[in-house]
This record gives sequence, structure tokens and C-alpha cells, in this order.
Amino acid sequence: MALKNINPTKTNAWKALTNHFEENKNINIKDLYKDDNRKQEFSLEFDDLLVDFSKNRITNETIDLLVDLANEVDLKDAIEKQFSGEIINVTEGREVLHTALRSTSEDPILVNGKNIKPQIQAALRKIKSFSNKVISGKWKGYTGKSITDIVNIGIGGSDLGPDMIVESLKFYKNQLNTHFVSNIDGDHVSEIIKTLNPETTLFVIVSKTFTTQETITNAETIKNWFLKSATIFDIPKHFVAVSTNLEAVDNFGIDKNNVFPMWNWVGGRFSLWSAVGLSISLSVGFNNYRALLDGAEEMDLHYRNTDFKENIPVILALLSIWYNNFYGAETEAVLPYSQYLSKLPSYLQQAIMESNGKGVDRNGDKVDYQTGTIVWGSTGTNMQHAFMQLVHQGTKLILADFIGYKESLYGLTDHHKKLMANYYGQMEALAFGKTKEDVHLELQFSGDKEKINQLLPFKVFEGNRPSNAILFDKLTPKSLGKLVALYEHKIYTQGILWNIYSYDQFGVELGKELANKLLKA
Ligand code: F6P
Repeated sequence: MALKNINPTKTNAWKALTNHFEENKNINIKDLYKDDNRKQEFSLEFDDLLVDFSKNRITNETIDLLVDLANEVDLKDAIEKQFSGEIINVTEGREVLHTALRSTSEDPILVNGKNIKPQIQAALRKIKSFSNKVISGKWKGYTGKSITDIVNIGIGGSDLGPDMIVESLKFYKNQLNTHFVSNIDGDHVSEIIKTLNPETTLFVIVSKTFTTQETITNAETIKNWFLKSATIFDIPKHFVAVSTNLEAVDNFGIDKNNVFPMWNWVGGRFSLWSAVGLSISLSVGFNNYRALLDGAEEMDLHYRNTDFKENIPVILALLSIWYNNFYGAETEAVLPYSQYLSKLPSYLQQAIMESNGKGVDRNGDKVDYQTGTIVWGSTGTNMQHAFMQLVHQGTKLILADFIGYKESLYGLTDHHKKLMANYYGQMEALAFGKTKEDVHLELQFSGDKEKINQLLPFKVFEGNRPSNAILFDKLTPKSLGKLVALYEHKIYTQGILWNIYSYDQFGVELGKELANKLLKA
């Protein structure tokens, strides 16, 4: 049975939330914090993860009403439909089963009446054995040398996910150098080619369709460069593909044994858990790749089985809806306090904005309420010296996720203490601000009264700016898997609440078509 089709704004919960908002829109986080239990009451723990959402403009009643909304649109039913493999990507006629890729349960999941679990296991075995051969040096290039460099050629979901994970797990990397070529801009591929030796480089062409202009153009350029020093008979030792389009892969000249599967029931931007993650496994080894999947599976189970009030992805999704649809906030920031996660914001931009950037509901009608949030961000503390001025004192209301780790990986405790002091300091500044009186006290000995009064308004921080603290013990493949899955489930939850389809992306087509027409012209 298809997803239910409920306009959220017509629900009783929405009406109650509208009234609740009118009555409470001026509440202040500082006042809410007078309750000593607030931090505890508005925090959720799940294994090595703590989510503190106490610095939001919410009360218990807000959460109750938001949860009522989730119940009224039957989110539970939608979650079950996703996990059990119903065709919830209705506009493309597909199941959405990235969760099956990381599932270790023996329970079958049927697509067209056939259990997909054996195919998934077979693909994982192939990834493992191939990665082991390349990493150990047993896989030889055309002159008998071992592989030193891996180049992932793909774009969008066939690039951003693996690129972000490889960067995030740099600490766990082996000796192989990993590169990512994505842009149609020839300077991108040229800059990478110039560092490579064809004898020792392995190219992983990742394209679900194997027709994407950027990927095929880059792959052809690389093949031509390779063939300047090698022959077509050497291609099997240096080119592998991840795709559903076996014919196009064959036409490109790739050996059929070097093809890793992709499936239509996995959306491009959710595909890093499939063989699209091959460059991850090559880069950090299969065991770490499996740990990434395991972490995601743990989050899947949490999402599927936990009451909404205790459910981390659901609560984060509801908070985002609270600001987006009631306060009229338009953007959200993702602020990781780890340099390793520098690519997370752009990865999430595709995941979130390609999924929920929809203006038509599941009836095919134009929506008259706000959907998909704009997401952006960068790493702390660098961004404190860049855009945080606007977040602290600008005119926009921006919900910010602060992602942090209790421990650093290299153990420079002095650095880590300073990093985390900034992490907490920023959230406190946003929530509690700085009053006129505080500023006055601070300035009282620094000049004459008139000067102080002149400066005063510029130095005041209004505060009352919301944030979520997403804190893990340590950055590991497993905790990273949990984090990425957390955002995936937040995306789906919001899509269900907004009554839109989160898993198609027709909006990227028109520009592509026009570019092709213009190219011909
Ligand atoms: O940007 C649109 C999109 O279809 C993404 O969803 C996908 O990740 C990307 O293009 C790449 O597509 P492919 O894997 O088919 O080359």
C-alpha cells in the first residue's frame, strides 16, 4: 500500500501547534533554563551518542504537539513501509532500501518477489575480496607493480558520499592515495591526472546510469590518457565500474568481472552503503567499511523501534519543522567540531536539498507551506572566524547542529580542550547572549560614559538562538555510520510530515537537458 497522503496543515496537531506557537513564540531559552532539569529532560542518549536539544525554543508541550503531528500523519506506518521495501518512491516506481544494504538480520526483504539479501551479501563479499587484493598489493597493474592510487570518477551521490567518508575517516586510512574526480571542468581531472602514474593507478567509475555527462566525459579523458602509455588489453587491470547499466559499462571496455552492482532500489544520494562505497573500502579497509555499515544499522534499528519522543532522528526532524514552518526560519547550519568532517555539510546539502526540495505534495498539488530547509555549514572553530557573526547577531533565525567528539584521535588534549570549550561556548553564546547590563559591567572602566553608551547596542547579544549538541565519544567508522544514518532518517521523517516524495530528483533534469541542447547548438 502506498504512503498515506495527509496534508500536515489540515491536521488537528498543526492547528494546535499554530495556537501553541502564537502563545509561546516569545519564549526565551534563558527563561526556560531556569528549570534545573531542563538539560536532562531535553537530552537523548543512544550508546556513544548524546543529543542535547535543550537550547531550543520549546517546552514539553511543544514536543508533545510535534509528536502528535508525527502520529497524525502516521509516520510509524511510513517508516515500516520504507524498511519493508514497499514502493515508496512512487514517482519513479521504486523501493527505497539503502537500509537493507547495512542490515545484518537474516529476515528476507522482497523486491519483485525476490529476496535481495543474498545479492547484497554477494556484493559485500566481492568488495571485501577486491579491496583485500588491492590493499595487500596482490592486485598488479599492467607492468606488474602494485596499486598506489585510487581515483573515484563520479558525481552527486556517486561522489559526495564516498568522498566525504574517505575524508572523515582519514585517520583510519591505509597507504593508498585516494582521489575524487567529479566536475565536468577539465581542469579538475587534469589536476588529478598530473599526479598519477598509469602503471599504479586504479580507476573506479561510479555511475548508476553510466550516462551522466560529467562522469562519462571524465572517464573517457582518463581512458585516453591511460592508453597513451598502455593498451586496451591493460584496461581490466586498471578500470572497474559500479553501475546498473551493464551494457554501457561493457561498451566502455570494462571487463565484466570488474563490475560491481548497483540497484534501482537504492537512490543515488543514499548509495554510499552499496558498492558505491568501494573507494571507502579500498581506502580504509573492508573491516572499517563494515563498521561504518554497522553504525548505520544501529541507527536504523533505533529509528525503527524507538518511541518518537525518544527517537533522535524524529526529534531532530520535528525541531527543524518547528522553526521552518512556525517561526519561518529558512536555513539550518551543520557545524562539525572536527576537521575530519569538513565535507559533511556539502554531502548533506545533496542529501537534504535534493530530497526535500519539492514544491508539490503527494497528491501532485502545489504546497502552500514551506518544505525543504536550506542547509549549509563548515567546521568549528574555523567558521567562528567566518560566518558566525551573522548567526550570533544577524537578523536571521538559524537552527544550528553542533557535532562534536569527547575525545580527539591523536590525543592532543590541550587542543581538544580548547576545541570543545569553543563548541560549548558557541552554543551558550547563541542561547543566552549578553545583556546590556553585562556589557555595561564589562565596559565600565574602559572609557567615558558617553562612549560606553555609544558602543553598548553593538556589543549586546540578544541570545535565544537555537542549537542542538550532537556529541559522540569518538570519531570512528561506526559512530560516523550512525551520524550519517541519523540525517538520512531526519530527511525521510520531514518528507513524510511535509507530504512530499523525498526520493526522486526531477528538479535536476531540466538544466541537464538544456545543457545538452546548447552543446549541440
Ligand atoms: O544529481 C542528480 C543525480 O541523479 C544524483 O541523484 C546522482 O547521485 C547523480 O546524479 C549521479 O548519477 P549517476 O550515478 O547515474 O551517474
